[in-house]
Amino acid sequence: MCGIIGVLGNHEAAPILVEGLKRLEYRGYDSAGIATVNGGTLGRRRAVGKLVNLSDVLVHDPLAGKSGIGHTRWATHGAPTVDNAHPHRAGSVAVVHNGIIENYKELRAELTAKGLAFTTETDTETVALLTESYLRDGLTPVAAAAETIKRLHGAFALAFLFDGEQDLMIAARQGSPLAIGHGVGEMFVGSDAIALAPFTDQVTYLEEGDFAVLTRNSIEIQDRNGTLANREKRQIQLDMARIEKDGHKHFMAKEIAEQPTAIDRALVEYLGQDNTITLPENLDFTQVERLTLVACGTGYYSCLVAKYWFEQIARMPVEVDVASEFRYREPPISPDTLALFVSQSGETADTLAALRYTDGKAKQIVGLVNVPESSIARESDVVLPIKAGPEISVASTKAFTCQLTVLLLMALKAAEVRGQSLPDNVLDDIRALPGLVHQAIAAENNIQAVARDLASARDVIFLGRGALYPIALEGALKLKELSYIHAEGYASGELKHGPIALIDETVPVVVLAPRDALFEKTVSNMQEVMARGGKVILVTDAEGARVASDGVSETIIMPALPDVLAPVLYAIPAQQIAYFTAVAKGTDVDQPRNLAKSVTVE
Ligand code: G6P
Repeated sequence: MCGIIGVLGNHEAAPILVEGLKRLEYRGYDSAGIATVNGGTLGRRRAVGKLVNLSDVLVHDPLAGKSGIGHTRWATHGAPTVDNAHPHRAGSVAVVHNGIIENYKELRAELTAKGLAFTTETDTETVALLTESYLRDGLTPVAAAAETIKRLHGAFALAFLFDGEQDLMIAARQGSPLAIGHGVGEMFVGSDAIALAPFTDQVTYLEEGDFAVLTRNSIEIQDRNGTLANREKRQIQLDMARIEKDGHKHFMAKEIAEQPTAIDRALVEYLGQDNTITLPENLDFTQVERLTLVACGTGYYSCLVAKYWFEQIARMPVEVDVASEFRYREPPISPDTLALFVSQSGETADTLAALRYTDGKAKQIVGLVNVPESSIARESDVVLPIKAGPEISVASTKAFTCQLTVLLLMALKAAEVRGQSLPDNVLDDIRALPGLVHQAIAAENNIQAVARDLASARDVIFLGRGALYPIALEGALKLKELSYIHAEGYASGELKHGPIALIDETVPVVVLAPRDALFEKTVSNMQEVMARGGKVILVTDAEGARVASDGVSETIIMPALPDVLAPVLYAIPAQQIAYFTAVAKGTDVDQPRNLAKSVTVE
C-alpha cells in the first residue's frame, strides 16, 4: 500500500511526479503529496483525498524544481490528514515511505528525549527525524540515511531528498517493492514499473536490504551487508506505458471486457495447438503428496475453486488458506508438499510472508502472479505468469479469471502426469472459454436491471454449490467492496444451518446454478429461500431457467457449458452484478473507500 515516486530530472519534477502518482493511485488514495529541491531549497505540497486534490493545490500553489519525490497514501498510522500526508519533512530531509516502521514508538521516545518535536501521528515521521538527528550530528546525507535505515524494523520502501542537494536521492528497500528507472541523464524511483513506464523502459529492481545512492548520471547500490551490488537492468514491456480506459467509463468495465482476450493469452501461453499443456519444466507434480494453496482476497477464492479441480481431477489432497492466517498457525509442511502462492500483484505482504514460511520446508514453491518481476515471482522456485495484463481497478476481475484458467490447466496437467483420466474433451472445451466469456459479458443489460434493484438492498446473499461456492464468496466480496452493501456468500447446502434465519422479502439472494449434477439440490435450497419470502435472482443456463424459473424474481442466462468450466464463466455475472450495483449507487468503482489494490503491509 502507498505508492512512491521520485525523479532527478532535467524538466520540472511536479508534473512527472503527479503522472507517476496517477499510476500508483491504485495502491492508496486517501492523501497525496510531493516535495522538490529548487535552487537548493526543499519545498512540499500535500492534499487530503484523491490525487486530483493535490493537482488543484499545485495549480494554485505551484512547486518548482527538477528533483522531487511523491507519495500516494493508504493510511496505517494516523488519519488521512494533510499533516499525516507524505512527504514527511524534518529540517533538511524529506522522506516518502511505503510500509510500516514497527519500532517507531521506541524511536519516537528516543528522539523526543533528544528534544526533537513530532508534528504527525505517522510512523514515517520517525524516519525523517532520525535522519535529521544524524545530519545534526554532522553526518553527510548519505551516511545519515544509511544510519537511519540500520535502526528501522519492519517493512519499507523509502526515498529521501535533502535540502541543498539538487543531484542526490537515496532509495532503500526492505519488504516493500522499489524500482529504479534509468533515463538519459535522469534517474527515477517508483514502487512499480508501471509508474516508471511513461519516463523509461529501463528498470532495475532493488532487492531486499538494498540501499541505493542516485544522482542523475549514476547509481550505486549496496546490499544488506554493505557490499557493492550489481543489479540487473531490465527492459520493461511497452504496454505498461498505456494505462487508459479506452472509452470505458471505468477501468473495471474495461478489465471485465478484456477477459476473453486475457484468458486467450493465458491459453496461448500454456496450451499448445496440439492440446499439450506446457508448464515450466521444473514444475514437478509426480512426487507430491499434498498441495498447499495460499492467497488473499480474490486470489484466495481462485485457490478455493482450484481445490475442487485438483481434488476431483488430479486426485490430489489440497489445503487452502488465507495468507494472513497461514504462517501464524505454523502449519507443519512436509517435504512432499507443493506450496502454491496466488497473487495478482505478487507483492501482498501476507502472501509473501507465508511463502517465506514454507521456504526450505516444502518440496517446491510455485508463484502464480500477474506481475512477473514481483517479489513473489522472484522468491518462487517456479513462476507461472497468468498473462492478464496490467489490472488497474482495485477490484480484481481479469486477473481472477486468468488465475482460474491457469489453475485449471495446472490441475489437468497434474492429473495427466499422475495417471488420472481427464474429463472428456476438456482440452477442446477449454479453448471455447474466451468465446463463452464473451457471450456471458453480453448478458450485461439484464444484469443492469437486477443491479438497480440490488442498489437499495441492505444485505444480499450469494449461494453456490461445489466449485460455484467460491464464486458465491467472490460475488459477495465484490458487491461489498464496490457498493458497500453487506453481502455474504454461502454454500447452498449450508444455508439451512443458520443463514436462512436472515431471509425475508428485503434480502435478495443471488443463486449461481448451472444445470450441472448438483443443480436439483441447489434448486431445493432456492425453494427454501422463496418459501420464506426471499427474492431470488437465478443465474443459470437456458435449460436451468426452463425448469427452475418459477417464482424467481429475475433470471440471468449464461451459455451452457461443461461443468468444469462453470466457475470461470459464472465469475462474469458475479463481477457485473457488483459493477452495475456500484454504478447505480454512484460509489467510486475503481477506487472503493478504504481499499488498496496492492497490500504491502500485514
Ligand atoms: C487487495 C485487493 C484485492 C486482492 C487482494 C490480494 O485486498 O483489493 O483485489 O484480491 O489484495 O492481492 P494480490 O495482489 O495478492 O492478488
